[in-house]
Amino acid sequence: MSRTTLIDLLYLVAATTFLIALKGLGSPKRARLGNVVAAVGMALAVGATFFHQDANGKGLAHINLMVLAMAIGAIVAVPAARFVQMTAMPQLVAIFNGVGGGAAALVSVTEFIKLRSTEKPATYVVLEVLLGVLIGTVSFSGSAIAYAKLQELMTGRPITYPGQQVINALFGVGSLAIIVMLLISPSTILLWVLLGLAFILGIAFVLPIGGADVPVLISLLNSFTGLAVAASGFTIGSNLLIVAGTLVGASGILLTRMMSKAMGRSLANVLFSAFGSVVTASGDGAREDGRTVRSGTPEDIGVLLAYASKVIIVPGYGLAVAQAQHVVRELADELEKKGVEVFYAIHPVAGRMPGHMNVLLAEANVPYEKLKEMDEANSEMSTADVALVVGANDTVNPAAKADPSSPIYGMPIINADQAGSVVFLKRSMRPGFAGIENELLFDPKTVLLFGDAKDTLTKLVSAVTNS
Ligand code: TAP
Repeated sequence: MSRTTLIDLLYLVAATTFLIALKGLGSPKRARLGNVVAAVGMALAVGATFFHQDANGKGLAHINLMVLAMAIGAIVAVPAARFVQMTAMPQLVAIFNGVGGGAAALVSVTEFIKLRSTEKPATYVVLEVLLGVLIGTVSFSGSAIAYAKLQELMTGRPITYPGQQVINALFGVGSLAIIVMLLISPSTILLWVLLGLAFILGIAFVLPIGGADVPVLISLLNSFTGLAVAASGFTIGSNLLIVAGTLVGASGILLTRMMSKAMGRSLANVLFSAFGSVVTASGDGAREDGRTVRSGTPEDIGVLLAYASKVIIVPGYGLAVAQAQHVVRELADELEKKGVEVFYAIHPVAGRMPGHMNVLLAEANVPYEKLKEMDEANSEMSTADVALVVGANDTVNPAAKADPSSPIYGMPIINADQAGSVVFLKRSMRPGFAGIENELLFDPKTVLLFGDAKDTLTKLVSAVTNS
């Protein structure tokens, strides 16, 4: 078997591992294994690439520089990934995605410069290269702004100005016009103009998107990076890059659609509506109709929980902020010891990133079968004595079903309002991500326990133990 055939075979094995990995990532039980399989496949692909030879039998040039670049990348990325807080995961994904897009754009830029010395390259080849430059650069600068928003290096609120959509459209049309000009007559100066325009387009595209919509945007930018990588694959004739890039592109767009759907919004609404620029809830709990909320003590709520027969825990973003996943499990264990049936109702967009609650609770070794998806949990809600809402808000807000004027109208929710009683653990009357009041907080069957969830859950554990 020739060296080229062997390398192609290894690439095929690597591509297969990516597919197996994606399948694994679809379930919390197999996600860890899926990740390991993908990592082994990627190591295989990178290793095989070092033995690549061109048609004249010449091996790779600058191997030392490549190894140095990989070492620097590993020194920066390994600790960043190991020590990242769960709540900071979306920005880590943003920055990793950005550098992927940037790398794909750089490959395309060097290929364009090489093509210029080729006699009359085919138009489709130049087009692939230019699309790689455009999409990769948009993904790079867009991801950088997404990172800055999530890391609070700049305001997380949408930044809007008059005529913004028209100006953004002009940047888009301008970039396409430059691509057409480059196809007619390749010029390095025009290539730099395209790079500059694509860079600005990425920034302009992300500015009007609110901080908490950014995870959806990151998934879309991830898909862009996949497409840019696939374009680079066509350019340098690498089947593996084409397969890997297409997988990333397709899964990114699917995830984007799933997230938008779970939020009850269209992708266009996420991208263009500057959602989150208006906060309608005051957060002080005062209402014009004079209704107030009912707050309880850990002891009272401990008794309510301990004497229930079924408790459904509804976790949300606040659980991640409080890092209370271990204590919530302790509480569930205590309740189960008293014969109470307990499970967790998982909303697909609870938290700030896909699978946020699953990952958090897995960290606390909560058994997978205790996590029920929204529809399954809702079918049991009316038989629950207590819905214990830990740091969730929008995902249990009945306005999504009842108030057509609400910005979250149409978003499927966990029907906590159908349980016998509802207990909210939160620190204040501040709203959640959507910035709107939650009528359920004022419901007579709701009781609030104010405080950081880790604190209040710890108090509940001892209250339940002593009941
Ligand atoms: P949110 O509606 O954002 O509410 C979180 C609640 O947690 C807040 O009411 C907050 O109230 C409370 N909280 C914060 N820190 C806390 C702490 N340390 N202890 C106790 N409570 C705390 O959360 P959710 O129900 O999970 O909904 C998620 C929202 O994010 C949805 O609107 C969804 O559309 C959006 N979103 C999700 C995603 C993904 S993929 N998950 C992506 C983009 C947007 P206090 O401040 O009063 O404590």
